Amino acid sequence: SEHLRKVLCGRAAPYIIVEEEEKMSTKKRRKVIAGNWKMNMTPTEAKELAKGVYEQVKGKKGCDVVVCVPFVDIPAVAQIVKGTIIKLGAQNVHFEEKGAYTGEISANMLKDCGVQYVIVGHSERREYFGETDETVNKRAKAALNAGLTAIICVGEKLWERECGITAEVVSLYDIPEEQMQNVIIAYEPVWAIGTGKTATNEQADEVCGIIRSVVSEKYGKQVAKQLIVQYGGSMNAKNAEGLLAMENIDGGLIGGASLKPADFGVIVSAAQ
Ligand code: 13P
Repeated sequence: SEHLRKVLCGRAAPYIIVEEEEKMSTKKRRKVIAGNWKMNMTPTEAKELAKGVYEQVKGKKGCDVVVCVPFVDIPAVAQIVKGTIIKLGAQNVHFEEKGAYTGEISANMLKDCGVQYVIVGHSERREYFGETDETVNKRAKAALNAGLTAIICVGEKLWERECGITAEVVSLYDIPEEQMQNVIIAYEPVWAIGTGKTATNEQADEVCGIIRSVVSEKYGKQVAKQLIVQYGGSMNAKNAEGLLAMENIDGGLIGGASLKPADFGVIVSAAQ
């Protein structure tokens, strides 16, 4: 674990002291399994994939199932998932309500299309599209103010730069306590995304626990106890059960395997 902290922060980080009675992982939280389809699937293909996912997850209870699809696929997928256990998510949202922001999509537009969840601050957006902690924070706030659930992504690169503790604080800046029930934090180590390399169950659990501690410092134990913290990065049909059994891992944000209905179904079953 010291090694992981060094990987995360560039040094041993002495800041986390979780006392026994303060362990915030005892309360049972619901699990949230979210597929991130990334830039895959035309609307025609998306319909078929959504039907396939539905076939695999129907009747499964005990966890929330979300598909985060490209903007243009939203109407097509909304039709398929309406009235099912599958919830609809987007992969980004602009922070302004409306106006001269060519090419952008607002939270209200998403909401009007039946979207309930939106990913913000995915590492691919940080890496290729200049996303910063500040813009991630603004997007999260816009999503929450519109009544969407924000899946805020954090990962190693961020941790290295911010040296751990400020990362979540910056992303959560100005987010009031009462909106925290609509916040999910996804821990996605950049080196594990799309590489087939997963963090070990223990590594992933430890960082998800650290995230919970950081949230506890800012919002108190009650909020931290209820916070959903997902793991993402090469989660698949084989490793999901082990990861999801860990105390601090409340679900997954799944890329590649979410495009394969049978595998996604196995992951949802593992979360039950
Ligand atoms: P993979 O599951 O393909 O590694 O992607 C993870 C991810 O980035 C989910 O947001």
